[in-house]
Amino acid sequence: MQEKLGILGGGQLGRMLIQSAINYNMEVHILDPTCDAPCAALAHHFQVGDLKDFDTVYQFGKRCDIITIEIEKVNTAALKKLRDEGKKVYPQPEVIELIQDKRLQKQFYVAHGFPTADFILVDNIEDVLANTAYLPAVNKLGRDGYDGRGVQLLRSEADLPKAFDAPGLLEKLVNIYKEIAVIVARNASGEVRAFPAVEMVFHPEANLVEYLFSPAEVEEKMLKAAEAMALKLIEKLDMVGLLAVEMFIDTDGNILINEVAPRPHNSGHQSIEGNITSQFEQLLRAIYNLPLGDAAIRVPSAMVNLLGEEGYSGSPVYEGLHEVLRLSGAHLHLYGKNTTTPFRKMGHVTLTDADANILKQKALLVKSTLKIIS
Ligand SMILES: Nc1ncnc2c1ncn2[C@@H]1O[C@H](COP(=O)(O)OP(=O)(O)O)[C@@H](O)[C@H]1O
Ligand SMILES: [Mg+2]
Repeated sequence: MQEKLGILGGGQLGRMLIQSAINYNMEVHILDPTCDAPCAALAHHFQVGDLKDFDTVYQFGKRCDIITIEIEKVNTAALKKLRDEGKKVYPQPEVIELIQDKRLQKQFYVAHGFPTADFILVDNIEDVLANTAYLPAVNKLGRDGYDGRGVQLLRSEADLPKAFDAPGLLEKLVNIYKEIAVIVARNASGEVRAFPAVEMVFHPEANLVEYLFSPAEVEEKMLKAAEAMALKLIEKLDMVGLLAVEMFIDTDGNILINEVAPRPHNSGHQSIEGNITSQFEQLLRAIYNLPLGDAAIRVPSAMVNLLGEEGYSGSPVYEGLHEVLRLSGAHLHLYGKNTTTPFRKMGHVTLTDADANILKQKALLVKSTLKIIS
């Protein structure tokens, strides 16, 4: 491929994107704020710099032809200028701006008739205190929250001191039956494809994905409805690229959109081994305007996030690795991070098995056997 690829962000998502980019013979340029980022030693050109700084992003983008992101917290004004000067910027900067702010995201769903949990906008903690009738609720930061760090459950008035004193949302607590995610892709010609829905199981304390199963164990009718909803959303956004749509299925069987990410996502890692086309290859096909790949499931799979063990910080030691690698269909992905901290995403293991019950047993075994200490 002639066109040079620029990626804003050099974490594990960028790293897995590089793996696919090599197969397409793409020249990869990465910008990331840390010199030892997971992509540092792997990109053709790696630059250390602030993703929020206009000049840094603009000068970086000038050297590339197609620019994409693996993190949303980037300078969109620079991306707009690059786009206006003829660079291909996917996802489009306007879409990134909408998604950077959960308040705008939620308002977009309401304005376009997508089902989502009821919410009110709050500007500060006083607004939260003035709306105690809305509890039990989930207080969310409008901007800059990730992996559960911008989310606070407020069950009753006793929890109010935990509320955020910043612009955000107060969202009705949903009685969640299951959390699923559907990843969809769209290329510049308007072709769209959906990955079959996966089921996400969250860590009880850390609020981030602990493991997932593909396909989700949910009624077929519901899965089809979720896929249709995600496809409708990427079309409504008029977006080119990859969109991960997180959804709740509530105990009454309603499907609600929780939030979206306009990039590769933790809920699609299993696609490398489990699907005909991976989410990473699909993103490259979408932004280079190539025909999209078949996203169908090749073999049922599970993914276990390898999180830094509580109580350990420092150089990582992977305990139980041999036992895990003895399992048939176990695939290890280490992200190359030099230090582990509690709950930090250090890698993942994908497991495949035609039998859903055996798959679950394997996932639980990995979860209980593999520990990242220091
Ligand atoms: N309205 C809600 N009701 C119940 N649980 C919720 C609600 N909103 C979020 N959660 C829980 O918190 C998790 C993180 O929330 P989310 O908005 O996805 O934030 P993040 O950006 O950290 O992923 C969700 O995956 C879900 O488990
Ligand atoms: Mg989320």
